[in-house]
Amino acid sequence: MADANEFQDRLLSLGLARVSEAAALASAHLIGRGDEKAADQAAVNAMRDQLNLLDIAGVVVIGEGERDEAPMLFIGEEVGTGKGPAVDIALDPLEGTTLTAKDMPNALTVIAMAPRGTLLHAPDVYMDKLAIGPGFKPGTVTFNMSPSERVSALAAAKGVSTNDITVCVLERPRHEALIEELRATGAAIRLITDGDVAGVMHTAEPDVTGIDMYMGSGGAPEGVLAAAALKCMGGQFFGKLLFRNDDERGRARNAGITNFDRVYTRDDLVRADVIFAATGVTQGSILRGIQRERGYITTETILMRSKTGSVRHMTYRSPVK
Ligand code: FBP
Repeated sequence: MADANEFQDRLLSLGLARVSEAAALASAHLIGRGDEKAADQAAVNAMRDQLNLLDIAGVVVIGEGERDEAPMLFIGEEVGTGKGPAVDIALDPLEGTTLTAKDMPNALTVIAMAPRGTLLHAPDVYMDKLAIGPGFKPGTVTFNMSPSERVSALAAAKGVSTNDITVCVLERPRHEALIEELRATGAAIRLITDGDVAGVMHTAEPDVTGIDMYMGSGGAPEGVLAAAALKCMGGQFFGKLLFRNDDERGRARNAGITNFDRVYTRDDLVRADVIFAATGVTQGSILRGIQRERGYITTETILMRSKTGSVRHMTYRSPVK
């Protein structure tokens, strides 16, 4: 018989899917309503309620913020019934609050779970990110390469021209130089306005999404979630924390980080097997958004386990109460 305190990823995974489904369903009526805060709050409440039903001794390591800034799902909050395996939880109840408020593509609810002490406690600072999909040798692209070298290296590994590579980048003024350098290689750029967890996940299914590589800076917490997704889907991820001031360095120190120049690989961010669930809120390339029909509401969830590499797409239709 399985040890009740072992990380039972197989058993827990379906529960995790329910958690992300519940958050998406709760934010459904707020899609396109222009109220980011209300959409986020609805997702947070639902995610927390569902999480507390699971038989886990969970601790939120990536959450809504530090204890003094987030009343719920704050970093360090204990979740679950307390009966069961000790786990780390990384979550973003609504990844793409603006995308949801404006009904733009690829807003998701996201959650990952791994044995206690195995997910990086990433502070709320930026992270410079690089990701490619599965099937490439280690070292195909490295963090130390310039953006144009990365494009050339990936094109060579794929046996295509740099013109055939598409890079996903967050559209931000801070990325102007990056975008200019990428354009000079001939690569195409898919600019997104928000949602870099989805952006990174897109690299794992280039035939579906058309995206080969992800580059640029975004939230470090989202970096850990993206690394968890790629650990299940396959693919390489690199991230380096970026600090703009002493307050941010202090946040990192409080999270136990001492080497501020470290380049983290996917497996440094997620050091053991992980389970990952995400539910589409608005329409997306990997996941359908929430669908409504008279009397029913339907969600699509991706549920993955790194131990087996299994990827489930689950649709869930429930009557509207
Ligand atoms: P929220 O859903 O919390 O608004 O985050 C969206 C997001 O686009 C993330 O996907 C990304 O990592 C981060 O914001 C980028 O931050 P910034 O908007 O400061 O560039």
